[in-house]
Amino acid sequence: MMEVRSLSVVYPNGVKAVEEATLTLSPGKILALVGESGSGKSTLLYACLGLLPRGSKISGKVFFDHLDFLSLPEEEQRQIRWKKTSLVLQGTMNAFTPVLTMKRQFVEAMEEHLNLKPTDAINRAGELLKEVGLDPKFLFRYPHEISGGQKQRCAIAMALCCNPDYLLADEPTTALDVITQAEIINLLKRIVRQRNMGMLIVTHDLALATSIADKISVMHQSRIVEIASSEEIVNRPKHPHTIDLIRSLSMMEEEH
Ligand SMILES: Nc1ncnc2c1ncn2[C@@H]1O[C@H](COP(=O)(O)OP(=O)(O)OP(=O)(O)O)[C@@H](O)[C@H]1O
Ligand SMILES: [Mg+2]
Repeated sequence: MMEVRSLSVVYPNGVKAVEEATLTLSPGKILALVGESGSGKSTLLYACLGLLPRGSKISGKVFFDHLDFLSLPEEEQRQIRWKKTSLVLQGTMNAFTPVLTMKRQFVEAMEEHLNLKPTDAINRAGELLKEVGLDPKFLFRYPHEISGGQKQRCAIAMALCCNPDYLLADEPTTALDVITQAEIINLLKRIVRQRNMGMLIVTHDLALATSIADKISVMHQSRIVEIASSEEIVNRPKHPHTIDLIRSLSMMEEEH
């Protein structure tokens, strides 16, 4: 179980980006974090992994299976970031090095974090690419030779390379067309179920959230204002901001 308790973040410029956020994430479940731009979703996600700019103030607790993550030394946090949890970012932001083939990037990650020999790392990388629906031949390409959707599949494969228990994803499909978006969402759903992982997915798209998540937490002005099952959020929203979000969704549907 991943547990976030009363997490608050103040950036060095004094912006209170997250206030008293509490949530839990169970194995095999998907929790979506939705809310308007600037409400603090990404900040909450990065804070859970101790990835905030220097000088930020963070209070509260983050537990990964009872491990008090934020109290650990930086080096242990770094290990856990790969082995227990993993991060998938928005397509365009993914940190693939442009001058290295995918093979090199996978092998380097696995040598460093799993101590694998290069041949074993290459085999494992090929298996991971198959798991995300790509031909292992993609290992021989450079990042610019791969489409946005395929790159996002590679990023998911990379995130799985240490068999993490939790996957945290920040707007993993925002840069993609709707068909590719649906494919990536289905892929994430399948992987989470097959591997019994917990996934926290940040999105500003409520329709997408309801299609993927077991539960939805709604963020508004740096606070989580409501957490409920997707069905409850859609049919019986309680907080005025959630009601506004649902209303804007149905207005968009009417316009189509
Ligand atoms: N590095 C930073 N330093 C200072 N303030 C920041 C920093 N990053 C974000 N903020 C501020 O913190 C607040 C929350 O930002 P955050 O990026 O978490 O929002 P978000 O919900 O992810 O928005 P979006 O949907 O647009 O990605 C905003 O007011 C933002 O301006
Ligand atoms: Mg964001």
